[in-house]
Amino acid sequence: MTAKPYLTGHYAPVADELTATDLTVEGTLPPELTGCLIRNSHNPKPGVTPTHWFKGSGMVHGIRLREGRAEWYRNRWVRTPALDGAPYLTEHGPDLTASTAGTHVIEHAGRLLALCEANFPFELTPDLDTVGPHDFDGKLRSAMTAHPKSDPVTGELHFFGSSPFPPYLVYYVADADGHITHSAEVPGAGAALKHDFALTRHHVVFVEGTVTFDPTEHSGIPYSWQDGQPARIGVMPRGAQGAAAIRWFPIEPGSMLHVANAYEDAHGRIVLEGPTVDREGFRLSWNWWVGAPGRGSEPNTRSHNRRWTIDLATGRVDERAVDDLAIEFPTLNEDFLGVENRYQYAVSFPDRHGFGGYGVVKYDRATGERRIHQAGDARLPSEAVFVPAAGATREDDGYLLTVVSDLKQDASHLLVLDAAGLDTIATVHLPRRVTAGIHGSWIPDTKA
Ligand SMILES: [Fe+2]
Repeated sequence: MTAKPYLTGHYAPVADELTATDLTVEGTLPPELTGCLIRNSHNPKPGVTPTHWFKGSGMVHGIRLREGRAEWYRNRWVRTPALDGAPYLTEHGPDLTASTAGTHVIEHAGRLLALCEANFPFELTPDLDTVGPHDFDGKLRSAMTAHPKSDPVTGELHFFGSSPFPPYLVYYVADADGHITHSAEVPGAGAALKHDFALTRHHVVFVEGTVTFDPTEHSGIPYSWQDGQPARIGVMPRGAQGAAAIRWFPIEPGSMLHVANAYEDAHGRIVLEGPTVDREGFRLSWNWWVGAPGRGSEPNTRSHNRRWTIDLATGRVDERAVDDLAIEFPTLNEDFLGVENRYQYAVSFPDRHGFGGYGVVKYDRATGERRIHQAGDARLPSEAVFVPAAGATREDDGYLLTVVSDLKQDASHLLVLDAAGLDTIATVHLPRRVTAGIHGSWIPDTKA
């Protein structure tokens, strides 16, 4: 039996927890980078072979920067019942605390939360120790998506919980103080997989692709591509009262894991963009995620940026591919979340023939220009998190923070790129290889 791809190479788990201080910095770290970059990845304990990449226990890696210095690195498992083997499905139904907590980590209202979409979030301390599950004082009555959206204007956190069983979709709003103020069941939603969603100034946008609940799928993640499953986009006005007004628009078959951004354009149309796979891309990607034969060389194969423009007045949807580069992990200057962004960033992957290498890509949506910072031989960058420069006046005046796994060195480093030209500003050498994985966030001290 060949080793599972998610337990080898860049994705091989690390076996223990470390703390290291006073890290070596090459170049000059901008002093405004004062805070902590935290990344989450699936990192099963030694000897454990999960049946699906996403079933691996979550481990967070933190890199603490302060005024030009790299103060510490530490990595910690998120201590959930699942880390000790507790099952998700019990005789009483799903145990929402039995989480891998291995998908994302965010901050809201002073709380650090490690997220997995089938569960409650898990609160962490600033030193990455686990506090426990967080259910918003009992007001979270479902699982919580790993992709909540923080409104840059109001500070609200918008999110949802989805389930293959009714209620399929519940929408929540938490205020800037971290209290859930609105929740509503969304009518018309079904069992289709909903990993991410979008927030515009006036609307909430849900996507149901061609991947839906499949009780015969035994990898532990019971979903599969089903040709008969109609793909569609749901658009509703923001706020709990908006749910009743949701409208669903049919789209072409496909599966979009991550939203790059969405906004209302000058004509009031909803524009939504994100990397999307077709049937074959999903098959190759899924087979990688479960370690089955017939898989792609990368976890995201044939994943290309796609755009939908939804005219709410006419009901028409314009849908088109906007690029042919294999990408995932789209990011942006989050001050532009929900409004028209000029710049979009992502991680680029080799094409399906294995050519092209890994890189950090920047799109200029106004000119169509695409610029790539090539990571180099045997190097894989993580999702590139945008941090604005002090006193920034331009959208791309800031930094991209990415943790690069370097197989030749069996090590990782934090790369700080100038978001305008993608040039390297500083490199922080880490005491170990950081498991390649999913999402992360920059938590500035000013937010704490
Ligand atoms: Fe995700």
